Amino acid sequence: MEKVKVEICCGTACYLLGAANMMNIEEELPAEWRGKVEVAAKTCLELCERENLGGAPYVRINDTEIMSQATPEKLLTRIGELIEGAQ
Ligand code: FES
Repeated sequence: MEKVKVEICCGTACYLLGAANMMNIEEELPAEWRGKVEVAAKTCLELCERENLGGAPYVRINDTEIMSQATPEKLLTRIGELIEGAQ
C-alpha cells in the first residue's frame, strides 16, 4: 500500500489561519497508522489567491485532493478513511 501523502500549506495565510496546529499531526496518528502516512510542510500552495482566503488553511492529500479549512480533526478523519479504505 502506498503511503497517504499529506502536504500542509505553511504559507503565511494558511499558517496564521491554523496550519500551525497541524504541524505535529504525525504525533497524533494512532500507532497502527504510523509508517503509512507521509507528512510534509509546503510553501504557499497558491490556493489562497485562487480559491480565496476563506478556505485557508489548505492541505493537499495524495497530490490531487484539496482539503480547505483543514483542522487536525478533519485531517485525521480523512487519513483514516484513506488508510482503512485501502486495506
Ligand atoms: S498560504 Fe496556503 S495556499 Fe497560500
